[in-house]
Amino acid sequence: MQPFIKEQEKYIKEKLLELGYEIEEVVLNVSSRPELGDYQFNGIMGLGKKYQKNPRDIGQELVDLIKKENKYKDINMAGPGFINITFSDEELIKHVNELNNNIEINYKINNPRTIFLDYGGANVAKALHVGHLRSANIGEALKRLASSLGNKAIADAHLGDWGRPIGLVMLEIKNKYPDLPYFDSNYSGEYPKESPVTNEDLMEMYPVASSKAKEDEQYMEEAREITAKFQNGDKGLMALWNHIMDVSKKDIKSTYDRLNTTFEVWEGESDCDKYIPEMIEYLEEKNLVEDSQGARIIEIKEDNDDHEVPPLLLVKSNGSHSYETTDLACIWERMHKWSPDEIWYLTDSRQALHFEQVFRAARKAKIVKEDTVLEFIPFGTMNGTDGKPFKTRDGGTMKLDDLLDLAAVECEKKILPNITGKEREEVAHKVSISAVKYADLLPYRLTDYIFDPVKFSDLQGKTGPYLLYSTIRMKSLLNKADQENITYKDVKVISDEYQRNIMVSLLNINNVLVKSFESRSLNDICEHLYKITNIYNNFYYQNRILTEEDIDKRETWLTITKIVYENNYKLLNILGIDVPDRM
Ligand code: ARG
Repeated sequence: MQPFIKEQEKYIKEKLLELGYEIEEVVLNVSSRPELGDYQFNGIMGLGKKYQKNPRDIGQELVDLIKKENKYKDINMAGPGFINITFSDEELIKHVNELNNNIEINYKINNPRTIFLDYGGANVAKALHVGHLRSANIGEALKRLASSLGNKAIADAHLGDWGRPIGLVMLEIKNKYPDLPYFDSNYSGEYPKESPVTNEDLMEMYPVASSKAKEDEQYMEEAREITAKFQNGDKGLMALWNHIMDVSKKDIKSTYDRLNTTFEVWEGESDCDKYIPEMIEYLEEKNLVEDSQGARIIEIKEDNDDHEVPPLLLVKSNGSHSYETTDLACIWERMHKWSPDEIWYLTDSRQALHFEQVFRAARKAKIVKEDTVLEFIPFGTMNGTDGKPFKTRDGGTMKLDDLLDLAAVECEKKILPNITGKEREEVAHKVSISAVKYADLLPYRLTDYIFDPVKFSDLQGKTGPYLLYSTIRMKSLLNKADQENITYKDVKVISDEYQRNIMVSLLNINNVLVKSFESRSLNDICEHLYKITNIYNNFYYQNRILTEEDIDKRETWLTITKIVYENNYKLLNILGIDVPDRM
């Protein structure tokens, strides 16, 4: 079964064709002026241009034709050619009851795909910081959206686990504990099982090492050497690398867990690195690699480029590989292991050129199929109240955990006083994640926003906590009905405008999901959730649902409550937000 609104869109498209007008796509939107109709179609203006006609004339032809078929309770035209459609009550009731039986009708697209997502990118031996927040939130939500629409979605943490930061930390460890066996090339015994460093040690060591390296060329040279040594598989350093990985990965994972961000695959740059030799061999065989001052490069500029696209640096003159090489090998690996139809990358826009180079090289070398989609999905910046990228008070980079703590402190204040102990902690956690995620996903993906934990945790505003609070209240109403043995099965009547608006809005969910999916931005889902919750709350204040004497009305209102609850629960889950039992 097709979602109801999809069917209407198809019908209108056919009617236009019958009149001789070809339109690529008919999109119905929930009307912003419900007094004119339930849904609005704005595509007539475009047709006017295309067919060099007054759009109102085309609109009138369409309205007349559809009126003759008695399809809708009302169809009319307003302004320069907006078509308004009002469904009959029976029709609305019928289709909302279908949703009541199976909310999955709304979760459908044609042509499911295998989509591989890359939105982790945390760097080992360094803490997750605020810069990792948006890729984690948006990526996770896009993955959940993709799979709830029937695609197969696989996410990879893609850890930065093979670069100089690790070499720097190793050098610090070496300077601090020179007698450890990892640094002795003649050592032949077993390496210790216990890591010589904790995650706290790593967190202290990396910034120290990184600033030393900036000031001291000698130190930097040593860091380069130790990096090259472990990258070439030195036994002792690999044993140490494994310890660093274990310790750091555990910490990275706990922050991602806290954020409800999950990965099906926990690979990293080190895993892609293994594929570099076979990939280079393939590229050389295809004659795609050129010499350039001792380095090996792939030329990727194209004739009609409007900006400079430098060649991809495959092998540097000192024999090492670049970030681009690793990502190219990573596509190589992913195509071989998972053969995805699409690969999506989420990082901030500063990496746009990097991905452009990698994608071009992958296409030129036919590492991907002709129709494989490689997509870079950048996002706007999270700013502080000063409008500049968010920083700690002293201008440093804030750890992601500390940022989440700021939100947790604010949200804890909003929770019922009788929720105590462990439960209080868990509820505060869930509420704070709702605050952070909703605020992050609400603006259009490319728009910057300001991190403001006080505003985000407000129970009255357009916030995660408001949505949670309202959704929990729906659930407790349904629980009360259960306790009092008040049964309800379906929608029987439409009793007021609020209820009607809720029903109209419920029928639009498939469109909202598809729009969010296509724009790779969760803002439409966020807006939809707020809107429907808001109308529901008006409806809730207006009616005394459990004590209503008219049985048809009571059944209807409880059913509406149940569908909105289910819908909110599902959409919040797509955003990565868990609903606590109470708050
Ligand atoms: N580790 C990288 C960074 O911190 C992000 C990785 C993004 N993904 C990728 N395949 N390059 O900048």
